[in-house]
Amino acid sequence: MPATSSLIYSPFSTAVFEDPYPVYRRLRDEAPVYRDPEQRWWVLSRFDDVATALRDWETYSSKCGPAPENPDEDGRKYSVISMDPPRHDQIRGVLKGFFTPRAVAALENALQAVVTHHLDRLRPGTTVDAMEAFAFSIPTDVIGDLLGVPAADREQLRVWWEQFLTRHEGEVAMPRSAIEANRKISAYIGDLIESRRTRPGDDLISIVLQATFNDPDTGGDRSLTPHEVLMFCNLLSAAGSETTQKLISNGLVALHDHPDQWQRIVGDPSLIPAAVNEALRYDTPSHWVARTLTRPVELHGVSMAAGDWVLLLLGSANRDERRYEEPDRFVIDRPRGTDVYFGWGIHICLGQWLARREAQLVFEYIARNFPNYAIGARERVLTATVRGYTSVEMSLGSGA
Ligand code: HEM
Repeated sequence: MPATSSLIYSPFSTAVFEDPYPVYRRLRDEAPVYRDPEQRWWVLSRFDDVATALRDWETYSSKCGPAPENPDEDGRKYSVISMDPPRHDQIRGVLKGFFTPRAVAALENALQAVVTHHLDRLRPGTTVDAMEAFAFSIPTDVIGDLLGVPAADREQLRVWWEQFLTRHEGEVAMPRSAIEANRKISAYIGDLIESRRTRPGDDLISIVLQATFNDPDTGGDRSLTPHEVLMFCNLLSAAGSETTQKLISNGLVALHDHPDQWQRIVGDPSLIPAAVNEALRYDTPSHWVARTLTRPVELHGVSMAAGDWVLLLLGSANRDERRYEEPDRFVIDRPRGTDVYFGWGIHICLGQWLARREAQLVFEYIARNFPNYAIGARERVLTATVRGYTSVEMSLGSGA
């Protein structure tokens, strides 16, 4: 019997989802190139292997999409996240100036306004569901404002995205509810795009609609096709909110579980940017991304064939003891180098600076106004790749 016979890893298991870190450790130690028992994919779990694969897009291609249960074809379903260069770079390039640190700094007042609007409603001495009270709505409003989604429609869009990502125990195929939710999202965003064609504004949809780039296939400048616009805007609306909701709530739970670290923040809020990075590492929202191989790869004595799916376990790489000292501890000011919680290489998260700033503003507000908050019961939702909560009981203490 091989030593790894009892090591079973499934990304679609509630038990794994509840606490994936013990099985991640076993994967790193016992089977750094792990074969799914049903031969559907390989799994890489060590930091160095994941980081190398993320950088090597020529071998680890994104063309078949970000998830093996629902393959894409060169971005037809999920835009840039399932494209390789040169097309990836052209379409991503349309918005590259919009999400830089400087561009996010220019949004500071707008971000402050969204955060204060939601958090000013909290009262000392009460207990709230942090998800319902602010963690769902802050990222949804931020991306809603950027895309120009009417305020009244945002909660509906958020619920559709949650339905799209939700999976059932042990089922790899996308459930009907997810397919149906995806159809509704596309129809909704499609209508929004049509209204911007006739009445452009200064929102992201109008920018994407008006953008042109040089297309090497035709040799001339062109704008995005209606389908490309739809898929890009769909991706932004999803990527912009689900993950950031989880970052905010996972971070507040982790800091509650590490009171010494939280007290340091309360005493010195300048530590918050580093604490947000640590929250991203310690309990990362995006647990894996997928690639397909364009050529055979030999790694740790194992041969993977061209065309095979490979899951890159960001959640495990972030806890790799070969890369991080005492990885299972939340340490605000641990030394930083390359980190892969936003991916790495050409697909590194476009919205990383925006997501960080949203979480920083929330942590700043809570540290100032509710330094004695406490976390109670929480409930998770099983999703395809994004790990976090759907409800988190939060007692707001007696205030500052
Ligand atoms: C904590 C919050 C977030 C996390 C953890 C996160 C995580 C990620 C990861 C891991 C990838 C890489 C996917 C891959 O390599 O296949 C990615 C890509 C992407 N993210 Fe994020 N994301 C977050 C927030 C956001 C926000 C706020 C936006 C937009 C406003 C956004 C937009 C995108 C886009 C467009 C891509 C595709 C980039 C490409 O393929 O070139 N994300 N994100």
